[in-house]
Amino acid sequence: MNSERSGKNKYDDRSTLVKTIAELSDYLYLNNAKAAINIIDELIPVCIDKTLEELRSPIIKFINQKIYRELKHAKRVSVLAGELANSLSYSHEVIKDIEIGGFMHDLGKLFIDETILYKEEYLSTEEWKTIQKHASIGASLLSMSQYSRFIPMAEQHHERWDGMGYPNGLSGSAIHFSARLISIVDAYDAMICNRSYQKCITPFLAMEEIYRCSGTQFDPDMAAVFINQFFEHSIQPDKHSRYYNNCDQFYNKKY
Ligand SMILES: [Fe+2]
Repeated sequence: MNSERSGKNKYDDRSTLVKTIAELSDYLYLNNAKAAINIIDELIPVCIDKTLEELRSPIIKFINQKIYRELKHAKRVSVLAGELANSLSYSHEVIKDIEIGGFMHDLGKLFIDETILYKEEYLSTEEWKTIQKHASIGASLLSMSQYSRFIPMAEQHHERWDGMGYPNGLSGSAIHFSARLISIVDAYDAMICNRSYQKCITPFLAMEEIYRCSGTQFDPDMAAVFINQFFEHSIQPDKHSRYYNNCDQFYNKKY
């Protein structure tokens, strides 16, 4: 990752990045996971290192709005997950990994049919099952890549503290700590953003919901820290703005 950051890489040439994203789009369309992962393997550090503004044009042109929307969500989760990891006093290395894992947690959604992923009407049981597969798909993709240490965050971020989550119904501390953390931030971000199946609510109401689900859906200790952090940051305008979905700080973050 550092070598990508310090030196030039082939994706600094914009036309190469555009061509590669187009290839990825084809592989995803053809469901060719092996070919796609080779590209994802190379593109992840590049995507992490670039701001969304830098990626916007080729991505919109060659993939579609869906990926751009997912990238925005990924960036927000990454930033807030890093903040929470910091409040939990994890080491610098762990915080860094959580930021990157937060960025990649929904990687499996690339392989979910977007007509289901963004369907506006009520989802059938079968369609929900299809969407839920993104956690296991993300884990399989990462297991084929150099980022296997991020598997728990991709695979377990929809597990619940009470064992009622998916894909494996893990509970309590059997869920990897990084996935318990991502789960809170991911749920928060989902609540403050409009989704095809639900209208957004305010950050304050989202915090109330995190509190209500603490000890059932979420690790209660981590949820308490996240809620405290929100109120502590509420008196610091620059930090507090991060809790809103239109905050530029998210999109310009480089790691
Ligand atoms: Fe997810």
